[in-house]
Amino acid sequence: MKKALLIVLSLLLFFSVSLAEDAVSSATLSVDRLPAVESTGSGILVVYFSTDDTIRAAAYTVADTLSADLFEIQPAEPYTADDVNYHNSQSRTSIEQNDLQARPTIAILPEDLSRYDTIILGYPIWWGQAPRILYTFMESVDLSGKTIIPFCTSGSSGVGSSASNLQKLTSESAVWLEAKRISNGSSAEDIRVWAESLGLGKEETGMFYIHVNDAVLAVKAEDNSSTEALLQLLEAGDITISMHDYGSFEKVGPLGTTIPSNDEDITTVPGDVILYQGDQVTIYYDENRWDFTKLGHIDIGQDELKAILGSGDVTVILSANP
Ligand SMILES: Cc1cc2nc3c(=O)[nH]c(=O)nc-3n(C[C@H](O)[C@H](O)[C@H](O)COP(=O)(O)O)c2cc1C
Repeated sequence: MKKALLIVLSLLLFFSVSLAEDAVSSATLSVDRLPAVESTGSGILVVYFSTDDTIRAAAYTVADTLSADLFEIQPAEPYTADDVNYHNSQSRTSIEQNDLQARPTIAILPEDLSRYDTIILGYPIWWGQAPRILYTFMESVDLSGKTIIPFCTSGSSGVGSSASNLQKLTSESAVWLEAKRISNGSSAEDIRVWAESLGLGKEETGMFYIHVNDAVLAVKAEDNSSTEALLQLLEAGDITISMHDYGSFEKVGPLGTTIPSNDEDITTVPGDVILYQGDQVTIYYDENRWDFTKLGHIDIGQDELKAILGSGDVTVILSANP
């Protein structure tokens, strides 16, 4: 039902954009005035760009899961089938993606993003990067202080440097969380699971964050007395932990205090955050089996996690907020 409503609203948006373009030459229309963006009051906006519906479908699912608002980045000059032909080195997209300075014009920009704390940004991978129109968007809106969660779809490429290159164009006060790549064949359920793992829904509370080397890793907390104690500590203030590599599968360091253990026989997977002996926190980037307490999990690929943690000693900051 909700999905059907979104589709109808999106059609309204499409037509309102065409009309607005006829009516105003330098078109800027506030989010408030776009019929498709009747605010849900969640404080979350899903901004997306799509030429072939993959990202569009994913964006609808994310918005539906999180009761978020939607905003589509629409090019002033729509992309034709010839434009997106990546077999032709002279097609519009090939030329744009080869030109670092290309900034395709956006038909309509949102005027007012002040009601949103979180922007979930969806784009397809084009030649390993975000389409240049995303660069136009980044340079056209003020995202200071917002939390930005990028996601992309692609045939096979990973996120690569696509999100970090977009980050360079935004204010330093914007907090960028880890980008998620969704493969073209993903089901709506896969996307829903990812959206829920962000812990942004109103009923979701058990999240904490690990700041490391300029990245912010969102940890979905386990439901046990250990995480309850940890979350309470984090409400009182951030915790800095100096970590070192151990056993080629984890970074580990002292929490500085002891919290309750809920040890069980666990085989870790990359992204698991574990409490060891009640006073050591470990971030697993590989597999290990032992009796210890799971504190939570970071939804991230192993290579990406290893790249963020780096080799050797690292200082991480645990916090209640991104
Ligand atoms: C111009 C162009 C370049 C692309 N480059 C890549 C690429 O480098 N790597 C990849 O895995 N997929 C690439 N793709 C595939 C798209 O990333 C993928 O199909 C995406 O899901 C399309 O999203 P959309 O349907 O919402 O537009 C490219 C597609 C186009 C049109």
